[in-house]
Amino acid sequence: MIRLLTLSLLASVCLGELIPVSNYIGQHKHKCDRELAITGALVQDKIYTFGGCYPIPYIVDPSVENIFNFNDNHNNASETIQIYDIQKDEWTQETEVKLPFPWRSASTQTYQQDIYFYDVQSSQNYQNTGKMWKYDTVLKEFSALDELPFNWHGGLKTCANNVRMYFVGSHDAYQRNMIQIYNIENGVWEKPLFPNLRFTITQMLCGKDAIQFLGTVFTDEDDGMSMGFQHKYSGLIRTDYTTGDTILSGLRVELPIAYNTIVKTNNDKFYHFDVKDEETVIIVVDTVALENRTLEALPHALTAPLFVPYQDDLLFLFGGGKSRFYWGAKKPTGTLKTYSHKLVLESTVKFVHQKNE
Ligand SMILES: *[C@@H]1O[C@H](CO)[C@@H](O)[C@H](O)[C@H]1NC(C)=O
Ligand SMILES: *[C@@H]1O[C@H](CO)[C@@H](O)[C@H](O)[C@H]1NC(C)=O
Repeated sequence: MIRLLTLSLLASVCLGELIPVSNYIGQHKHKCDRELAITGALVQDKIYTFGGCYPIPYIVDPSVENIFNFNDNHNNASETIQIYDIQKDEWTQETEVKLPFPWRSASTQTYQQDIYFYDVQSSQNYQNTGKMWKYDTVLKEFSALDELPFNWHGGLKTCANNVRMYFVGSHDAYQRNMIQIYNIENGVWEKPLFPNLRFTITQMLCGKDAIQFLGTVFTDEDDGMSMGFQHKYSGLIRTDYTTGDTILSGLRVELPIAYNTIVKTNNDKFYHFDVKDEETVIIVVDTVALENRTLEALPHALTAPLFVPYQDDLLFLFGGGKSRFYWGAKKPTGTLKTYSHKLVLESTVKFVHQKNE
């Protein structure tokens, strides 16, 4: 157990405890061919993990020069499902059902008992396909849905609310300002929303009264090349569910844009991973309280874990590892092994502003 006290002058302070839990039993390794997180989703008290990518042994032919081949296919994709029961702290292998085909990775969106998959990468295909899949965790059934009927720019982001899934490309602002709407009940694509601001986003969540984005408003002076590699302030942007009316909330957050930052959402909060040379900081943006908190949570440079916020004060981390690509001056150090941990925060009320002595 590691107890960490975070102290910094202006930022909020958080006391957290990192507690090992039962180890992930699936095959996925983050360093497979790219640094990929385990594909997973939370449904009630269970975390489901799907497929994955793992290295397989191979023999190098020393007579073949191969310095430019970065994409050697010495790995395989899995088609199995594992289930972590949070209450029992126990993993089980799903034996009755497999993925429709082996997956390296996929993006997920949960709605009630169903998990939706998009951006599915199969074992051979490195291209993201536009096809969606649904897994019903109660009936234990996969179904193939239609192709996504739109284009997007950058990574596809989603959130779900009130029988609808909302889709936006992270860099759609270069070309369009549209929010695509999928009606979960009848499988119909509804009329998109057209926000009155153009903005690039790092993540979105479906709040109670509005779609919330962490993003940067795009102006005509911004050219594509300069973005993405700078420290830019992100704002909290809100779009009305019915009118598309979009406003900037006034909350500004400085999100370090580094390789392999991971942002996941849970209810009203954004979580942004800032992987540094020797530690990983999690920046939490609370879209209701309109404030940020910094959790200097992990004493390792942990990239690409499956990060599952379960409750406000309880977060799960599975897999991940040391980065092979790093921006910092130093190679990451530390004794990071397979990560299966829960991060227990000492209740949200204990987030206090505290002065350095
Ligand atoms: C690769 O994965 C497939 C499907 O999961 C499996 O049937 C096959 O045996 C694996 N191949 C190797 C070399 O591990
Ligand atoms: C969080 O908010 C504080 C105070 O509003 C601000 O000084 C700090 O820069 C913010 N942190 C981040 C990561 O943006």
